[in-house]
Amino acid sequence: MNLESALRYSHTLLDQVVVPGDTVIDATVGNGNDTVYLAASVGKSGHVYGFDVQSSGLEKTKTQLLLTGLLPQTTLIKDGHEHINNHIPEDTEISAAIFNLGYLPGSDKSVVTHGKTTIAAINQCLSMLSVGGLVVVVSYYGHPGGREELESLQEFLKKLPQKDFQVLTYQFINQQNDPPILFAIQKR
Ligand SMILES: C[S@@+](CC[C@H](N)C(=O)[O-])C[C@H]1O[C@@H](n2cnc3c(N)ncnc32)[C@H](O)[C@@H]1O
Repeated sequence: MNLESALRYSHTLLDQVVVPGDTVIDATVGNGNDTVYLAASVGKSGHVYGFDVQSSGLEKTKTQLLLTGLLPQTTLIKDGHEHINNHIPEDTEISAAIFNLGYLPGSDKSVVTHGKTTIAAINQCLSMLSVGGLVVVVSYYGHPGGREELESLQEFLKKLPQKDFQVLTYQFINQQNDPPILFAIQKR
């Protein structure tokens, strides 16, 4: 057995809570790897809302979803995840959300996530989360501004009330080149 990378572990965790029929959020669609995975997991009776500020990734993701027959259960939204509440019907309950922070490899490296908007989006996801549901955040922080985002995120997560949420950190602490850190927030 090999310990899983943060990215791989994000799916291992989501596998435990996402079932067909669920509504879930991909807060950083990028090239759509998580969106496609989630759309397959929730099935035709479920729904994935995917957010990104860049059209290029959203277009590629739409093509992937079309080719795999997963488009009907997916809504792709070109807007910042800090505006989630503007796009998802009130009273929606989600079983999971995923965030992959940082920039999209192979695209404009100046388009990155930021602590303030990331935290605003996580708060909106937490208010929609079902009991037992998970918000999973994979933080890449090696780029300019990345450490500031990571620090503000850690401060925010440490202060979440223990009676309402469990918060996990999953991190390789002896690897070089700033390996990503996973945070998982589960609603009690
Ligand atoms: C690390 S990439 C995501 C990778 C993606 N999960 C995949 O499978 O390819 C981070 C993404 O966050 C997007 N992003 C940056 N700021 C954002 C915001 N405020 N709201 C939503 N997405 C944002 C970037 O455009 C980029 O595509």
